Amino acid sequence: MKKVTKAVIPAAGLGTRVLPATKAQPKEMLVIVDKPSLQYIVEELVESGITDIVIVTGRNKNSIEDHFDFSYELENTLQKENKIELLEKVDKISSMANIFYVRQNHPLGLGHAILKAKPFIGDEPFVIALGDDIVYNPERPVAKQLIENYEKYGASIVGCQEVALEDVSKYGVVKPTENLDENTVAISDFVEKPSKEEAPSRLACLGRYLLDGKIFDYLEETKAGKGGEIQLTDAILKMLQDGEKVVAYEFQGKRYDIGNKFGLLKANIEFGLKNDETKGELKNYLKSLKLD
Ligand code: UTP
Repeated sequence: MKKVTKAVIPAAGLGTRVLPATKAQPKEMLVIVDKPSLQYIVEELVESGITDIVIVTGRNKNSIEDHFDFSYELENTLQKENKIELLEKVDKISSMANIFYVRQNHPLGLGHAILKAKPFIGDEPFVIALGDDIVYNPERPVAKQLIENYEKYGASIVGCQEVALEDVSKYGVVKPTENLDENTVAISDFVEKPSKEEAPSRLACLGRYLLDGKIFDYLEETKAGKGGEIQLTDAILKMLQDGEKVVAYEFQGKRYDIGNKFGLLKANIEFGLKNDETKGELKNYLKSLKLD
C-alpha cells in the first residue's frame, strides 16, 4: 500500500457568501484570531504526515503565496528587534511543507479544481482538505484519521459527520449500506443537496476526502452537474458504481465552516476562547454583553 504524503487544498472559489470580505482576497485567507484559516488546514495536514501540498488558487492568489513564502524584510526586522518568539512563529510558516500552486482559471466547481492537481498527484492516493473547513481535534488531526482508515480498508474515503435534518439540503449526503466499524460505513449512493424527504441519511460529506488517483479519470469524464458546477461527488459516485472501494468515515472533531458569515464568527469566538493571549479578556467581554 502506498504511503499517503500528498494533499490538495482547493482555494479558488469566489466566496460569494462572505462578500465583500472576499472581493480582493480569497476566503481561505480570512483570519481566525491570528492566522488565516488556510494555515490551520496546512498545519492539520503537516501534523498528519503530509509533506507535499498543492493549493489550487484562483484570482487574488498573491496573499496565499506570500503567506507561505519566506519574508526576508519581516524576519530581518523581527530579528533586529529581538522579537524571537514572533520570528519563530513567522519562520515556521514557510518551512512546514513543500507547497505548490496551480491555477484554476475559471471557478467551474470543486471537481474541476481537484482535476487541476492531476499532474502533481499522478496515480497516488491523496487527501483533499477544503480550504474553508477547519476541523478542531488537537489529539488526532482529521487528515490523520482518514489516513489511518485508508491503511485499514485500502478504500477511498469520504469524510462525513452527522448533520441536523434541517441542514441536509446544504451538503452531499451518503446512502449507507453496511457498518464496517463504529465510524466507517460502506455506501451505495450520494445525493447532492437533498431535501429532508429525499435524504438517504444524515451523514453529510464535510470537507475532507482521501481518494485514489483513479478519481482523475472520472473527473475528466464528469460534466457540469448541480448548480452548473463540475461536482467532485459525481465523479466519486461514478467510481463507486464502477466497483471501486469507497467508504464513508465519520471523523472526530469540531468542524467550522468559515465560508459563511456565522461560521466565521463562531470560529473566531471559539478559537479566541482557546487562545492563551485572548481567552481571559474575551470571556469577560462576552459575559459583559447584555444580550436579550
Ligand atoms: P464552496 O462552494 O464552499 O466555495 O467550495 P465558493 O464557490 O467559493 O462559495 P460561495 O458559495 O461562492 O460562497 C468549497 C471549496 O472548494 C473551493 C473553494 O475555494 C472552497 O475551498 N472551490 C470551489 C474551488 O477551488 N474552485 C471552484 O470552482 C469551486
